[in-house]
Amino acid sequence: MSMTLREAIETRRSIRKYKQQPIPREDIEEMLRLTGLAPSAWNIQPWRFIVVTNAEKKRELYFAANQHPQVDSALAVVILTSDMEDAILRKGESIHPDLPKEEKQWLKENIPGILGKQTMEQRGRWGVAQTNIALAYLLLAARSMGYDSSPTYGFHPAKVRQLFNLPEYVQIVALIPIGKRAEEGQPHHRHPLERIVRYV
Ligand SMILES: Cc1cc2nc3c(=O)[nH]c(=O)nc-3n(C[C@H](O)[C@H](O)[C@H](O)COP(=O)(O)O)c2cc1C
Repeated sequence: MSMTLREAIETRRSIRKYKQQPIPREDIEEMLRLTGLAPSAWNIQPWRFIVVTNAEKKRELYFAANQHPQVDSALAVVILTSDMEDAILRKGESIHPDLPKEEKQWLKENIPGILGKQTMEQRGRWGVAQTNIALAYLLLAARSMGYDSSPTYGFHPAKVRQLFNLPEYVQIVALIPIGKRAEEGQPHHRHPLERIVRYV
């Protein structure tokens, strides 16, 4: 199943009850590949994914996530994280090989300098801003492949950190349960354009 971006946007909604059918690994990989095509400043790509399918681990995650029903129901939950320390360490991998030599050199020398001057906390926040773009990509990539999701912020970061051995500097951006819908969810309820747009 594949749909246009417009169809994916129109039909995506937060789903908290899923069919109990496992997601093939290749589908997960394709969703994450598409997600990784999200843009980021300096192409830094700080997003890192943990895919939780193990029933025991997922049960523990459910309790660390305020017992949100979507975490219990989905057979796969993606923990979307941002790791700026790893991103800086691997900056060489994110610099496009086709850029002019001087630009590549500039990026190589300046990315660690500019980001290195910030505190780990500031860098962390900067990484989360980039990773939120990937979050939107993941929701729409899943939908375009016929899957549903429910981004979830309600979790205890310290507990999730401990469960998956995540160091303090890794930011946990969201939990994203994924599967095929076993409920319809709610139709979109959004501000009308005239409430939020100003043409000048
Ligand atoms: C970043 C993010 C975090 C969210 N966290 C939660 C959450 O913790 N629990 C929950 O039930 N829904 C959560 N939601 C779902 C929102 O309530 C939902 O997206 C919003 O009401 C719009 O509904 P729709 O997604 O069906 O269009 C979250 C959504 C986003 C984008």
